[in-house]
Amino acid sequence: MTMSFDVDAVRASFPALTQTLDGRPVVFLDNPGGTQVPQSVVDAMVGYLINHNANHGGAFATSQRSDAVLHEAHVAIADMLNAASPDEIVFGANMTTLTLSVSRALARQIDEGDEIVVTRMDHDANISPWLLIAEDRGATVRWVDFDVEDYTLDMDAMHDLINERTKIVAIGYASNATGTVHDVATIVKWAHDVGALAFVDAVQYAPHGPIDVQALGSDFLVCSAYKFYGPHVGVLHGRQDLLEVLRAYKVRPAPDEPPGKFETGTLNHEGIAGVLAAVEYLASIGEQYGGAYVDRFPGLNGRRLQLKTGLTVLREYDHVLSSAILGELEQLPGVHIHGIVDRGRLDERVPTVSFTWEGRHPLDIATALGHDGIFVWDGNYYALAVTERLGVESQGGMVRIGAVHYNTVDEIHRLGAALRNLI
Ligand SMILES: Cc1ncc(COP(=O)(O)O)c(C=O)c1O
Repeated sequence: MTMSFDVDAVRASFPALTQTLDGRPVVFLDNPGGTQVPQSVVDAMVGYLINHNANHGGAFATSQRSDAVLHEAHVAIADMLNAASPDEIVFGANMTTLTLSVSRALARQIDEGDEIVVTRMDHDANISPWLLIAEDRGATVRWVDFDVEDYTLDMDAMHDLINERTKIVAIGYASNATGTVHDVATIVKWAHDVGALAFVDAVQYAPHGPIDVQALGSDFLVCSAYKFYGPHVGVLHGRQDLLEVLRAYKVRPAPDEPPGKFETGTLNHEGIAGVLAAVEYLASIGEQYGGAYVDRFPGLNGRRLQLKTGLTVLREYDHVLSSAILGELEQLPGVHIHGIVDRGRLDERVPTVSFTWEGRHPLDIATALGHDGIFVWDGNYYALAVTERLGVESQGGMVRIGAVHYNTVDEIHRLGAALRNLI
């Protein structure tokens, strides 16, 4: 790391981190399932409900104030993703609902014999919507496998499978099971070379690193604020020209222009106020550490620069966490880590580490850790294609340790000690 990251200062912003169980601090390692929020996010949501609470488009003060907050939140996410315009940002219930909605709109462009590429490394929310529209339209689904030793996508197969019949390539940015970060920019380019659209699931990557939709060239990119220190709100970025021409499944009085045409019904306004605060929280990290990065991102300024810097700081601290988790798990006889373990390749993963342990059921491990106040996930976490491919689905899946920037190395050592106690 280029600077030392002050995790104690970070933790002081997150009230949930003071929770205890049986007198011991709780260790949140369930973060890939949802992160905790800073006090500023709580305050923004409460403040919205007290001062701004109203429906959209009214000719009176609270509605106008509410609309200003909603607009600011679109601008903030556009800054976070480096989108060309806030009109490219669509809010919705969650990533799954947004993906199902956009996939249905895209289905109109799919004909019999067309092809859709999906991967076995993806969360099912970036697989099933495409299987469903392929079934509806008579299209063929092409599956890209992953290497079960190396935990990377089979890029040769990806390249071979993308052809003139391909209409959509659905890929993840980072896996919520193996933690692998994929080479999204290359895959987007391959999709565009044949005129296909690239749909990127960035839910797992967004809490860990900066995203630049213009540099990636992605056509659609989805993430979820509750995974990046905000409330339960989904976010879709769509290229403006595509959002404009796509026919949305909407009611007649709703807007005909993006983003409104895809933001069906009344949104979770207080949640969106919280999303704005979550983005500001991430920008505040960049502001704090900006000095060390001052020449690193030429061309960016203001909040975009702060967000890029803040998320780069988190990405660098991630490597410390990944190393610590891998170090603890590697000490345990019979543990098999299902992800990249090479310390020279930590850039290719986020600190989301899944493992199986010979002779122990994942649910038993997660339950025992839970009793110790250490919260982790077990099962398939909807990455069903991954657990099936690894042959662990029928054995209860895997245990997932998922750290984020408010976790400490001491917490990871406590996890290690708790796991050793199970021997
Ligand atoms: C990689 C990934 N994609 C998609 C989802 C679904 O997100 P949401 O709950 O917002 O629908 C998740 C949730 O765990 C995820 O980890």
